[in-house]
Amino acid sequence: MKSKIVFLLLMAWGAAAHAQTKLSTRQMKALVNESLRFSATQYKHMMQALPDSVFPRATNKDGSLMTAKYNWWTAGFYPGSCWYLYEYTKDPAFKQEAEKRQQYLLPDQYRTNTHDLGFLMYCSFGNGLRLIGTPAYNDVLMTSSRSLITRYKPTIKAIRSWDHGRWQCPVIIDNMMNLEMLAWATRHSGDSTFIKIAIDHANTTIKNHFREDYSSYHVVDYDTATGQVLAKKTHQGHSDASAWSRGQAWGLYGYTMMYRETKDKKYLDQARHIADYMLNHPRMPKDLVPYYDYDAPEIPNAIRDASAAAVMSSALLELSRYTNKQERKRYWNAGADALASLAGPAYRAKEGENNNFILMHSTGSMPGKSEIDVPLSYADYYFLEALLRYKNWAGKR
Ligand code: GLY
Repeated sequence: MKSKIVFLLLMAWGAAAHAQTKLSTRQMKALVNESLRFSATQYKHMMQALPDSVFPRATNKDGSLMTAKYNWWTAGFYPGSCWYLYEYTKDPAFKQEAEKRQQYLLPDQYRTNTHDLGFLMYCSFGNGLRLIGTPAYNDVLMTSSRSLITRYKPTIKAIRSWDHGRWQCPVIIDNMMNLEMLAWATRHSGDSTFIKIAIDHANTTIKNHFREDYSSYHVVDYDTATGQVLAKKTHQGHSDASAWSRGQAWGLYGYTMMYRETKDKKYLDQARHIADYMLNHPRMPKDLVPYYDYDAPEIPNAIRDASAAAVMSSALLELSRYTNKQERKRYWNAGADALASLAGPAYRAKEGENNNFILMHSTGSMPGKSEIDVPLSYADYYFLEALLRYKNWAGKR
């Protein structure tokens, strides 16, 4: 029976890859369930192999597991993935692992030298709170939110991203993702300061990060004293003028989330425009797993970024819920098609391989020559989120 299902799935993947046909909802549901089961098995291996007090990050050049300490921006994704797997399996081993690992993140809640507190704390403690409601997690998330808003610059009306580098006050498109925790903080505390800062940040980003075609710059550097834009640059993309794929996905996810949190149609329109930019792009591959940059000169031989596809897929599935019937179908199908590609043999690892990560072929920073064509913990996290979104929302939009 099991081998028959695997055979049917392989046939479906083959059909999707060769003829770009879409899977039926029934085939897609089977693929999603099988992928969630596989992911749980793979992460059980991860759990057993992972040294104490660190977090899986990527694969080193020598093929070994690259780990991260609690203060690296991606540390929250592994406990977050364990929470998603607990949500799916109800296996207490995933809950215990999430709880154990996220304890190491506790010092992060006091940090005011990073904007990544949403990634670090909301993906971990936020999912834990949602699933098991531990009251102490509220305090951790409120402290993290207070730390994050110390970075808000009223003259710029945005949260400062990095403290490193040659910038005066850099804001990166990725920072949209940290706003979700601030929306939660206002809902939880009744203090509107948090959401007002998130709204200011989102509005400033619409004004200064986007080009006419709705692609976005990676970094906008501001004059801290006057709030004027000093420069528009890239850090992880091909060039200042190019469209770095994960940045486009962060923007899509960020504005979809901001619409969910505020119901301001401006954010919905922004998300729709970003989605259309991606989905109509002549250099978007047929399998909807973007090259690391839409303007990479090596296309069609450029390296892909499965993490960009995972973030995009999860965001498109959510965006489809807020749009009219015609767009709903288009965004839902595109989110599902990207998800099916990631769940197929070209991107999904085999059991016990890939340092026990779920997905292969992500790219951290091409110009930085780091994490190229490797597994990345956040690719797995957003893949799991997209699988659960598909499972929970298919047929219920
Ligand atoms: N936030 C950093 C990245 O997306 O690589």
